[in-house]
Amino acid sequence: MTLIASSVLAADFGHLNNELEKVKRAGADLLHIDIMDGQFVPNITFGIPVMEVINTYSDLPKDVHLMIHNPENFIKKFIELGADYITVRPESTEKLEYCLELIKNNGAKAGIALNPETELETILPYMHEIDLLLFMTINPGFGGQKFIHRVVDKMAEADRYRRKHELTNLLFEVDGGINEHTAKICVENKIDILVSGSTIFESDNFKNTIQTLKES
Ligand code: DX5
Ligand code: ZN
Repeated sequence: MTLIASSVLAADFGHLNNELEKVKRAGADLLHIDIMDGQFVPNITFGIPVMEVINTYSDLPKDVHLMIHNPENFIKKFIELGADYITVRPESTEKLEYCLELIKNNGAKAGIALNPETELETILPYMHEIDLLLFMTINPGFGGQKFIHRVVDKMAEADRYRRKHELTNLLFEVDGGINEHTAKICVENKIDILVSGSTIFESDNFKNTIQTLKES
Protein backbone atom coordinates (compact mmCIF):
# COMPACT_ATOMS: atom_id res chain seq x y z
CA MET A 1 0.00 0.00 0.00
CA THR A 2 1.11 3.56 -0.65
CA LEU A 3 2.65 5.32 2.33
CA ILE A 4 1.74 8.87 3.31
CA ALA A 5 4.40 11.29 4.54
CA SER A 6 2.68 14.25 6.03
CA SER A 7 4.62 17.48 5.46
CA VAL A 8 5.03 19.40 8.71
CA LEU A 9 5.57 22.65 6.80
CA ALA A 10 1.80 23.01 6.44
CA ALA A 11 1.06 22.42 10.14
CA ASP A 12 -0.11 25.06 12.59
CA PHE A 13 3.17 25.81 14.39
CA GLY A 14 1.32 27.42 17.27
CA HIS A 15 0.04 23.96 18.15
CA LEU A 16 2.75 21.80 16.70
CA ASN A 17 2.67 18.99 19.26
CA ASN A 18 -1.08 18.73 18.82
CA GLU A 19 -0.79 18.69 15.01
CA LEU A 20 1.83 15.94 15.21
CA GLU A 21 -0.44 13.87 17.42
CA LYS A 22 -3.38 14.44 15.06
CA VAL A 23 -1.58 13.27 11.91
CA LYS A 24 -0.31 10.21 13.74
CA ARG A 25 -3.82 9.28 14.90
CA ALA A 26 -5.11 9.96 11.40
CA GLY A 27 -2.83 7.28 9.98
CA ALA A 28 0.18 9.10 8.50
CA ASP A 29 3.08 6.71 7.99
CA LEU A 30 5.91 9.24 8.12
CA LEU A 31 6.55 12.89 8.90
CA HIS A 32 8.13 14.84 6.05
CA ILE A 33 10.34 17.63 7.40
CA ASP A 34 11.48 20.39 5.02
CA ILE A 35 14.66 22.17 6.04
CA MET A 36 15.30 25.30 3.93
CA ASP A 37 18.09 27.83 4.39
CA GLY A 38 16.88 30.78 2.31
CA GLN A 39 19.97 30.46 0.08
CA PHE A 40 19.57 27.22 -1.74
CA VAL A 41 15.81 27.78 -2.07
CA PRO A 42 13.91 31.07 -1.77
CA ASN A 43 12.41 30.36 1.65
CA ILE A 44 13.49 29.73 5.22
CA THR A 45 11.58 27.16 7.21
CA PHE A 46 12.98 25.85 10.49
CA GLY A 47 16.04 24.07 11.82
CA ILE A 48 17.51 22.22 14.76
CA PRO A 49 15.26 23.48 17.63
CA VAL A 50 12.07 22.61 15.77
CA MET A 51 13.48 19.24 14.74
CA GLU A 52 14.09 18.64 18.46
CA VAL A 53 10.46 19.42 19.22
CA ILE A 54 9.26 17.13 16.44
CA ASN A 55 11.47 14.33 17.74
CA THR A 56 10.20 14.83 21.29
CA TYR A 57 6.53 14.83 20.37
CA SER A 58 6.34 12.25 17.61
CA ASP A 59 7.62 8.74 17.22
CA LEU A 60 6.56 8.50 13.57
CA PRO A 61 9.45 7.80 11.17
CA LYS A 62 11.06 11.07 10.09
CA ASP A 63 11.77 11.85 6.48
CA VAL A 64 14.06 14.90 6.41
CA HIS A 65 14.23 16.80 3.13
CA LEU A 66 17.33 19.01 3.19
CA MET A 67 17.22 22.09 0.96
CA ILE A 68 20.37 23.73 2.28
CA HIS A 69 23.87 24.45 1.00
CA ASN A 70 26.51 21.95 2.10
CA PRO A 71 24.16 19.44 3.75
CA GLU A 72 27.21 17.39 4.81
CA ASN A 73 27.65 19.83 7.72
CA PHE A 74 24.26 18.96 9.23
CA ILE A 75 23.54 15.34 8.35
CA LYS A 76 24.87 13.88 11.60
CA LYS A 77 22.94 16.36 13.70
CA PHE A 78 19.62 15.55 12.01
CA ILE A 79 20.22 11.84 12.47
CA GLU A 80 20.95 12.42 16.17
CA LEU A 81 17.62 14.22 16.30
CA GLY A 82 15.69 11.27 14.95
CA ALA A 83 15.90 11.45 11.15
CA ASP A 84 15.21 8.03 9.62
CA TYR A 85 15.53 9.21 6.01
CA ILE A 86 17.66 12.11 4.80
CA THR A 87 17.26 13.39 1.27
CA VAL A 88 19.71 15.78 -0.36
CA ARG A 89 19.75 17.66 -3.65
CA PRO A 90 22.77 16.86 -5.85
CA GLU A 91 23.22 20.56 -6.69
CA SER A 92 23.54 21.51 -3.00
CA THR A 93 26.93 19.89 -2.45
CA GLU A 94 30.21 19.07 -4.12
CA LYS A 95 30.36 15.98 -1.92
CA LEU A 96 27.26 14.01 -2.89
CA GLU A 97 28.92 10.62 -2.55
CA TYR A 98 30.24 11.58 0.89
CA CYS A 99 26.76 12.78 1.96
CA LEU A 100 25.19 9.45 1.00
CA GLU A 101 27.89 7.55 2.92
CA LEU A 102 27.55 9.82 5.93
CA ILE A 103 23.80 9.21 6.03
CA LYS A 104 24.12 5.45 5.75
CA ASN A 105 27.11 5.10 8.10
CA ASN A 106 25.13 6.93 10.77
CA GLY A 107 22.23 4.54 10.47
CA ALA A 108 19.71 6.43 8.34
CA LYS A 109 18.39 5.83 4.83
CA ALA A 110 19.80 7.98 2.04
CA GLY A 111 17.75 9.80 -0.56
CA ILE A 112 18.34 12.03 -3.56
CA ALA A 113 15.81 14.68 -4.62
CA LEU A 114 15.29 15.56 -8.27
CA ASN A 115 13.96 18.97 -9.19
CA PRO A 116 11.22 19.01 -11.84
CA GLU A 117 13.67 20.00 -14.59
CA THR A 118 16.54 17.71 -13.53
CA GLU A 119 16.95 14.71 -15.80
CA LEU A 120 17.03 11.22 -14.33
CA GLU A 121 20.28 10.59 -16.23
CA THR A 122 22.19 12.95 -13.97
CA ILE A 123 21.78 10.70 -10.94
CA LEU A 124 21.87 7.25 -12.56
CA PRO A 125 25.38 6.58 -11.15
CA TYR A 126 23.88 6.77 -7.64
CA MET A 127 20.78 4.65 -8.20
CA HIS A 128 22.42 1.57 -6.68
CA GLU A 129 23.53 3.48 -3.58
CA ILE A 130 20.35 5.19 -2.50
CA ASP A 131 17.31 4.00 -0.56
CA LEU A 132 14.96 6.73 -1.76
CA LEU A 133 14.47 8.77 -4.91
CA LEU A 134 12.36 11.87 -4.39
CA PHE A 135 10.64 13.43 -7.38
CA MET A 136 9.85 17.11 -6.87
CA THR A 137 6.60 17.91 -8.64
CA ILE A 138 6.81 21.60 -7.72
CA ASN A 139 9.67 24.05 -7.62
CA PRO A 140 10.96 23.67 -4.06
CA GLY A 141 10.40 26.41 -1.54
CA PHE A 142 6.72 26.58 -0.70
CA GLY A 143 3.77 24.33 -0.02
CA GLY A 144 0.41 24.73 -1.72
CA GLN A 145 1.70 24.87 -5.33
CA LYS A 146 0.36 23.09 -8.40
CA PHE A 147 1.61 19.65 -9.42
CA ILE A 148 3.88 19.77 -12.49
CA HIS A 149 2.57 17.01 -14.74
CA ARG A 150 5.58 16.60 -16.98
CA VAL A 151 7.47 14.93 -14.08
CA VAL A 152 5.25 11.85 -14.53
CA ASP A 153 7.31 10.72 -17.56
CA LYS A 154 10.42 10.75 -15.36
CA MET A 155 8.68 8.57 -12.77
CA ALA A 156 7.85 6.02 -15.45
CA GLU A 157 11.41 6.13 -16.78
CA ALA A 158 12.82 5.63 -13.26
CA ASP A 159 10.49 2.71 -12.66
CA ARG A 160 11.69 1.03 -15.88
CA TYR A 161 15.27 1.46 -14.63
CA ARG A 162 14.37 0.14 -11.18
CA ARG A 163 12.79 -2.98 -12.64
CA LYS A 164 15.54 -3.59 -15.17
CA HIS A 165 18.24 -3.40 -12.49
CA GLU A 166 16.13 -5.19 -9.86
CA LEU A 167 16.51 -2.39 -7.32
CA THR A 168 13.74 -3.89 -5.25
CA ASN A 169 14.50 -1.92 -2.06
CA LEU A 170 14.65 1.48 -3.73
CA LEU A 171 11.62 3.57 -2.79
CA PHE A 172 10.13 6.33 -4.95
CA GLU A 173 8.61 9.37 -3.28
CA VAL A 174 6.79 12.33 -4.75
CA ASP A 175 6.65 15.81 -3.22
CA GLY A 176 4.48 18.77 -4.19
CA GLY A 177 0.89 19.38 -5.19
CA ILE A 178 -0.44 16.01 -4.06
CA ASN A 179 -4.23 15.75 -3.85
CA GLU A 180 -6.57 12.85 -4.54
CA HIS A 181 -6.25 13.29 -8.34
CA THR A 182 -2.48 13.72 -8.58
CA ALA A 183 -1.97 10.96 -5.99
CA LYS A 184 -3.73 8.53 -8.33
CA ILE A 185 -1.44 9.47 -11.23
CA CYS A 186 1.64 8.95 -9.04
CA VAL A 187 0.50 5.60 -7.71
CA GLU A 188 -0.22 4.45 -11.28
CA ASN A 189 3.41 5.32 -11.95
CA LYS A 190 4.70 3.18 -9.07
CA ILE A 191 5.32 5.80 -6.44
CA ASP A 192 5.69 4.28 -2.96
CA ILE A 193 5.47 7.38 -0.74
CA LEU A 194 3.27 10.44 -1.25
CA VAL A 195 4.28 13.63 0.56
CA SER A 196 1.31 15.78 1.41
CA GLY A 197 1.24 19.08 3.26
CA SER A 198 -1.60 21.45 2.49
CA THR A 199 -4.05 18.77 1.36
CA ILE A 200 -3.87 17.11 4.79
CA PHE A 201 -3.41 20.08 7.11
CA GLU A 202 -6.04 22.26 5.42
CA SER A 203 -8.65 19.52 5.48
CA ASP A 204 -11.39 19.24 8.10
CA ASN A 205 -10.79 15.58 8.67
CA PHE A 206 -7.15 14.43 8.53
CA LYS A 207 -8.14 10.78 8.80
CA ASN A 208 -10.47 10.81 5.81
CA THR A 209 -7.97 12.78 3.74
CA ILE A 210 -5.10 10.41 4.52
CA GLN A 211 -7.33 7.42 3.83
CA THR A 212 -8.39 8.87 0.48
CA LEU A 213 -4.77 9.50 -0.50
CA LYS A 214 -3.79 5.97 0.53
CA GLU A 215 -6.54 4.45 -1.56
CA SER A 216 -5.70 6.43 -4.69
C1 DX5 B 1 8.23 22.31 -0.76
C2 DX5 B 1 8.31 21.11 0.12
C3 DX5 B 1 7.10 20.27 0.23
C4 DX5 B 1 5.83 20.95 0.67
C5 DX5 B 1 4.70 20.22 -0.03
O1 DX5 B 1 9.44 22.66 -1.28
O2 DX5 B 1 9.38 20.27 -0.29
O3 DX5 B 1 7.36 19.12 1.08
O4 DX5 B 1 5.61 20.94 2.05
O5 DX5 B 1 3.54 20.89 0.19
P1 DX5 B 1 2.16 20.59 -0.58
O6 DX5 B 1 1.77 19.18 -0.25
O7 DX5 B 1 1.25 21.61 0.00
O8 DX5 B 1 2.43 20.78 -2.04
ZN1 ZN C 1 9.65 18.39 0.88
